[in-house]
Amino acid sequence: MSSTRRSLLTAFLTLPLLEAARTRAFAQAAPELPLTPACDDGDEPTLEREAGPFFKPNSPLNRDLYPDSPGGERITVAGFVLDTRCRPLSGGLVEIWHADENGDYDSVGFRLRGHQFSDTQGRWWFNTIVPALYPGRTRHFHFKVQRPGGRILTTQLYFPAEPRNAGDRLFDEALLLEIKQAGDGRFARFDFVI
Ligand SMILES: [Fe+2]
Repeated sequence: MSSTRRSLLTAFLTLPLLEAARTRAFAQAAPELPLTPACDDGDEPTLEREAGPFFKPNSPLNRDLYPDSPGGERITVAGFVLDTRCRPLSGGLVEIWHADENGDYDSVGFRLRGHQFSDTQGRWWFNTIVPALYPGRTRHFHFKVQRPGGRILTTQLYFPAEPRNAGDRLFDEALLLEIKQAGDGRFARFDFVI
């Protein structure tokens, strides 16, 4: 991980919650940034999206997926798990699965599939690669998010400025990642509200 990416992740991990709330408020105010659910907009739960045909249960406990596809473009995807009152939820399951740099899902093993539990401050992050496009879809990550003992949210997150977003029936700007270029890769942010 480059120093820029490490410092961005470190900044995220040391972010006091007040600062996190301010960051979300800023993200809301900036028109070019995603309309993520925020503490002061009614705290709507994150939109649901279908799992699609490539979900596999029993993914490994693993947040470092980059070694699965070292030829891909690095991206760190990170955020909070929040309840509808904007309170961070610790111990929330966050599971990811996505296509590789060729647009293929691993249906045999568990490449680019993993889960983790949000930390005591409700934070989660995956180090992985940017998924390639595959026929019929815009660029996306798949996620499942579950509060301890609660229901499972299944959704997808999208990339800003993707030409195929507009023509994808599942796309919604409320599910856009906020992305910064960081060293040799990108840093993407999204807060789940469940
Ligand atoms: Fe997919």
